[in-house]
Amino acid sequence: MCGIVGYIGTKTATDVLISGLEKLEYRGYDSAGLATIWEDKIHCIRAKGKLYNLKEKLTGQETPAPIGIGHTRWATHGKPEEYNAHPHLDAAGRVAVVQNGIIENYRELREELKTKGYEFVSDTDTEVIPHLIADLLSSGEPKKSSSGSPFLEAVRQAVNKLQGAFAIAVICADHPNELIVARQQAPISIGLGQGEFLCASDTPALISHTQAVVTLENGEMARLTHLGVEVYDFAGDRLNKVPRILNWSPALVEKQVFKHFMLKEIHEQPSVIRSCLETYLNPEWDEKNLSLISPIKLKLSESFWENIEQVSILACGTSWHAGLIGKYLLEQLADLPTNVQYASETRYAPSPLRPNTLIIGVTQSGETADTLAALAMEQQRRAGKPKNYAAKLLGITNRTESSIANVVHQVIDIRAGIEIGVAATKTFVSQVMAFYFLALDVAWRRKTLPLERIENIINGLRQLPAQIELILATQDEYIEELAREFNDTQDFIFLGRGINFPIALEGALKLKEISYIHAEGYPAGEMKHGPIALLDDKVPVVAIAMPGSVYEKVLSNAQEAKARDARLIGVMPSSEAALEIFDDFLAVPEVDELLSPIVTVIPLQLLAYHIAAHRGLDVDQPRNLAKSVTVE
Ligand code: AGP
Repeated sequence: MCGIVGYIGTKTATDVLISGLEKLEYRGYDSAGLATIWEDKIHCIRAKGKLYNLKEKLTGQETPAPIGIGHTRWATHGKPEEYNAHPHLDAAGRVAVVQNGIIENYRELREELKTKGYEFVSDTDTEVIPHLIADLLSSGEPKKSSSGSPFLEAVRQAVNKLQGAFAIAVICADHPNELIVARQQAPISIGLGQGEFLCASDTPALISHTQAVVTLENGEMARLTHLGVEVYDFAGDRLNKVPRILNWSPALVEKQVFKHFMLKEIHEQPSVIRSCLETYLNPEWDEKNLSLISPIKLKLSESFWENIEQVSILACGTSWHAGLIGKYLLEQLADLPTNVQYASETRYAPSPLRPNTLIIGVTQSGETADTLAALAMEQQRRAGKPKNYAAKLLGITNRTESSIANVVHQVIDIRAGIEIGVAATKTFVSQVMAFYFLALDVAWRRKTLPLERIENIINGLRQLPAQIELILATQDEYIEELAREFNDTQDFIFLGRGINFPIALEGALKLKEISYIHAEGYPAGEMKHGPIALLDDKVPVVAIAMPGSVYEKVLSNAQEAKARDARLIGVMPSSEAALEIFDDFLAVPEVDELLSPIVTVIPLQLLAYHIAAHRGLDVDQPRNLAKSVTVE
């Protein structure tokens, strides 16, 4: 939540900051602002709402300054008004701060500062920071700095007083050649360019300038000057950090021919799955050694699987839905009892400790605060317990460089490429792919499936990219037309059973997130126990009816809805039943039931997308949401 960006170099900082904020706007868009240092003064401009408001306000007011910081906000403390927008300044307007996160002890700090005569003009937690830094600078204490920079030292002393999860970037008019950055449990990376240095909450804001990136860890801070970057810990000791090279094409963060990032990302799914298959299917697994080599190469250490008796999956939102499919696969294929918990819930009522448990955190961003905290809690509560209770933590993420890498012992990279649309699409299918690989690997190790069945599933996985291409080619335009008919619809019900129940939840979540239509996902067989009361001719029902163990059951449940006048939309292969029962149907290829979530989710993503696009809504940046939820 919130995007921060900073620049020091030879270019006009305002231009760099605005283009950086454009890449970070997915993190929050309640307000935006930037501050530069020019002619011995801080110039700060802020605007409520989206970045275009800030751009408009900037016209004619830009400075040519080569240093500055910028922010795009997802409101936590204080309404999304201009007076709460970042950057925040000290009373004299000499120090400017942008922050992502929450300063938990801001009330105490605010009171302390008030008693010293500082006045506050916003409702935010962030405003204490510039006052604290200004106070430390004016007290003279920071001169003791080992770095030789009183500004760095003042920021260092200030961050040591802050509690919570935060990343900050700070500039000071009295130190116009320094940009200070600090991190405590909120992401921030530093880009090392040619004669220019940047910082940003996420790498898409850096890649048009440089591919060389240093990611700060918790308790680390950096001083960016025109000459280079120095990294320190919060104790003030200098650290050596080796940059990594991203090798990302700037085109990855452009919409290309698509109207929205979400549509582009939906269309990228076949290639994402191909990349997962190439990476994780073991080419050496051929007929000669089926029983000797695992069909899957996940690079997890052997000891990781020793004595595992059960699995606990922790996640939020769409990742939680992927976790539900993971549970189905781990239980049905690998015979491993699995529970799936909302990370935000389990933190305050964890299940009793069980020995020999593998804990899997699923988070595309790798930065979701609840998921990280739930994983850390599992680590803590198992510390000091007998060996068989030791935490074995596995992360499934799209961002292997993110915070989750510091929390878990092993990571599966879902290889989806950067996802900019706030509504997750390609990262969802690649999370589900990770669960197929995991479940097949364990099934092979535990010998819970005949080898022919494993082979058969793998062959099915290989067909998926072409099958999705077929859905996109045949259904996109049809769904676009169909979606027009729901311009005034207020409620939707999504039904699914078995492995497609999580897809009903995901279809409903996508629609809610981007079209603001109330939607509920329900297990089809449970509808008659309550939600059926909602049905009438104004409530369309989308039923996922894939051939397999629950096909006939779902058709009967769909008939029950039809008998209550609901307009019925089927997600299923074309068939006579489809034509007879459903008013509309979104055709998908016939696939093994076990693999069907990967195909059934595609038309539901398209349906949500086209309904929202017809309504003229901001599909990529839906109201009130942010791509990575880095606060509790
Ligand atoms: C997905 O469309 C949502 N925007 C949201 O539910 C998301 O899945 C959730 O916030 C978890 O994010 P993560 O995968 O980055 O942890």
